[in-house]
Amino acid sequence: MIAAITHKDNVSMPFPKDFFWGAATASHQVEGGNHNDWSEWEKANAERLARESEASFVWNPHWVKFRSEATNPANYISGTACDHWNRYEEDFDILKNLNLNAYRFSIEWSRIEPELGKFDATAIDHYRQVIRSLRERGIEPFVTLWHWTLPLWLRDQGGILAPNFPDCFASYAEKIVLAFGNDVRFWITLNEPDVVASHAYLKGAWPPQRRGLLNFLRAIRQLIRAHRFAYHVIKQHTPVAQVGIAKHNVWFEAVGGTMWNRFLKMIADATWNHWFLRKIASTQDFIGLNHYNHHRIDGWFGRNENKLQTDFGWEYYPESLYHALTELKSYDKPIYVTENGIADANDELRQQFIPAALTAMGRAIADGTDVRGYLYWSLLDNFEWDKGYWLKFGLIAIDRATQQRTIRPSARIYADLITKYNTGE
Ligand code: FCB
Repeated sequence: MIAAITHKDNVSMPFPKDFFWGAATASHQVEGGNHNDWSEWEKANAERLARESEASFVWNPHWVKFRSEATNPANYISGTACDHWNRYEEDFDILKNLNLNAYRFSIEWSRIEPELGKFDATAIDHYRQVIRSLRERGIEPFVTLWHWTLPLWLRDQGGILAPNFPDCFASYAEKIVLAFGNDVRFWITLNEPDVVASHAYLKGAWPPQRRGLLNFLRAIRQLIRAHRFAYHVIKQHTPVAQVGIAKHNVWFEAVGGTMWNRFLKMIADATWNHWFLRKIASTQDFIGLNHYNHHRIDGWFGRNENKLQTDFGWEYYPESLYHALTELKSYDKPIYVTENGIADANDELRQQFIPAALTAMGRAIADGTDVRGYLYWSLLDNFEWDKGYWLKFGLIAIDRATQQRTIRPSARIYADLITKYNTGE
């Protein structure tokens, strides 16, 4: 049983008046009807993923709960997703009712530029409408240009490793900024470039499954260039725009502060947390932090206590957000939490997680960290890449047969906390 939540202790937290409270999604995970490198890969790999799921997840304490979903090939096909492409207004009404004043979403490159150099006016118009609908509700759009999916023509040229990838990305970014530059202030060029590069090219688990250290290093270099090019393009057309990336950072905890543990932490921080950020330091106006993982180092990596685990099998450790945030202070830039959340189909842990994560964030602010927004991952239960639909990250549950939206109790807790922080009551 989860203890009752009291909001009282959190109320005096030092959130600035103009703080952004929101939730996040990504095009391929919610829109439905996309045709890109992932949708093709899903078709070719769904059977295999279903077959391998038992061996991959039997270690997970929650396996029995999602076994029937995870062993079904249909789980691995994004298909209609949340039909957010058609239902975004309904979803924005819910956002508004939950007191949220920010929404992070991504633009689907394969819809905007279905053929090299040919831009689809209808798709551009769609996103114009999306942004307008948000603005009408007083919700600030945080627009991600690339959340991992690629148009097929680009996949065929080699995807991220295609020599012209950075140029193609910059020309797509230019098209978008010319279309929406006046209506969007916050731009996220790339989502978690290091995560996608390592899953695709180090582990070889995600499309295009081209395993190899050299490929990985090339992918990182390409993504750095793509970001820099896009940054300059956006700033050239709208100098007031705020541009950054959404960076996946882990809190590496050196247990006991021994020299050895601190040494391992230093290596992990320098490579995973700071390498990419330092490379783009002069081309970002803010840091977008995606935070999910605490990683305890005690003699070696991976020594988490795991007293509680989320449906993903990840350790439940909301306080980790405090450390991940304060460790970004040295960049001296505003920080937005662009993703933070847990997979929890029963919505029991999440009801504790949100207050605890916000408390952790409040402590980081009290300690002088310039945090200006929090975007919970995710607004909706959605298509979780090679895991498919069994992981439920949403503030809102989706019935996959009817597309009916159900607001989870944790979302109401989040909404209440926002009111309390805003009014100080
Ligand atoms: C992040 C991704 C996001 C979602 C969450 C759970 O790494 O950016 O799309 O998959 O994890």
